[in-house]
Amino acid sequence: MAITLLTHKRIVLAVTGSIAVYKAVDLASKLTQAGALVDVIMTDAAQQFVTPLTFQSVTGRPVYTDLWQTDNSGGLPTHIAHVGLGEGADLLAVIPATANTIAKLAFGFADDVLSVTALAARCPLLIVPAMDGGMYSHQAVQANLGTLAMRGAYIIEPEEGRFASGLVGKGRLPETPTLIGHIRRCLAQQHGSLLNRHVVITAGGTREAIDPVRFVSNHSSGKQGYALAQAAIDAGAIVTLISTVNLPTPIGTTLIPVNSAQEMQAAVLETCQHADALIMAAAVADFRPATVADQKIKKKEDTEGLTVEMTRNPDILLSVKQRREELHLPRVVVGFAAESEHLLDNAQSKLQRKALDLLVANDITATDAGFGSDDNRVVILDKDGGTQRLELQSKERVSEIIIERVATLL
Ligand code: C5P
Repeated sequence: MAITLLTHKRIVLAVTGSIAVYKAVDLASKLTQAGALVDVIMTDAAQQFVTPLTFQSVTGRPVYTDLWQTDNSGGLPTHIAHVGLGEGADLLAVIPATANTIAKLAFGFADDVLSVTALAARCPLLIVPAMDGGMYSHQAVQANLGTLAMRGAYIIEPEEGRFASGLVGKGRLPETPTLIGHIRRCLAQQHGSLLNRHVVITAGGTREAIDPVRFVSNHSSGKQGYALAQAAIDAGAIVTLISTVNLPTPIGTTLIPVNSAQEMQAAVLETCQHADALIMAAAVADFRPATVADQKIKKKEDTEGLTVEMTRNPDILLSVKQRREELHLPRVVVGFAAESEHLLDNAQSKLQRKALDLLVANDITATDAGFGSDDNRVVILDKDGGTQRLELQSKERVSEIIIERVATLL
């Protein structure tokens, strides 16, 4: 699937001699599918596990292995390429990085394509270590990683788990989606439109407890909110996601799990004190059970039905509006409106009542968009009376457009 941030980005992927190199093949493939131009460098040890042809097949580009090789399958002679490889690159990612390569990079060795490229390159350096047993925690490895981090390299911690050797510990290479998440974050930190801005996003339908096992909720899947969080990360923002659902959290976001509207309100008011923007994509229940039973409500022989009395929930955006009058933060507030009739009229009055900068309105009667779907068709209203009608498209793309509007307002 294409990823806007990765499209036409030149990523030099350096793979070193760890069994985890098989995961780097999948990574190279997924990055290429996402639109990136992936130039792979392999150390000698990496070629003991996988052949250059494997990477060449998934990236469709030459693979660089030997500093002295003059014919590189149609690519540049490698002793010249290392300069070009580094110079034009958006990112040099060493995945997986062995203890040996980490040591060489820390000391500035220059005896193979990878180490020479690392010295010639001026792009950010991302290092994801992968090694067996106790090697990762060894002082020598940690000291070398410390040196690299001090020089500005992004170091990603390996995961805990079982190694190929059967040992268990910290040193496993994360899976592809996690690696891509880190790569996105690294790229976004270079020139995102929301660099150093703090954005709070809410996602999912609130869950209003009836008793310890039951709740009242709605059909919101949270997909739009999570897509917004990823789009904000891709724009370089610091993102807090306040969510009622359990979807994979975009790498780099701080997650605050909540259930009820009241919990969500507390989290929003707390985080918004320091936020530049709030995007309320959550479907907050307007009503909640007036009392929550301490114990599970039991049916009895003669029970015909159950009446649950409901009471009004606080309107989170209205409480944010009040706070904003004192703090002047968040500077930009975005609301969502899910309407089944009179979409634009209802949306316009909501925008004014809740003092929003932008309101994203969607028609929930559409069967090809909205709740639970991967696509959305929305209209973005702004406080100056403007309307931007977006055609049916992925929630990812809709999110990018909303995030760009927020960036413009900030
Ligand atoms: O008034 P309505 O619920 O249609 O407004 C929708 C917008 O208001 C959404 O952005 C939603 O997250 C927010 N909202 C809120 N507090 C509520 C209900 C909705 O902040 N109690």
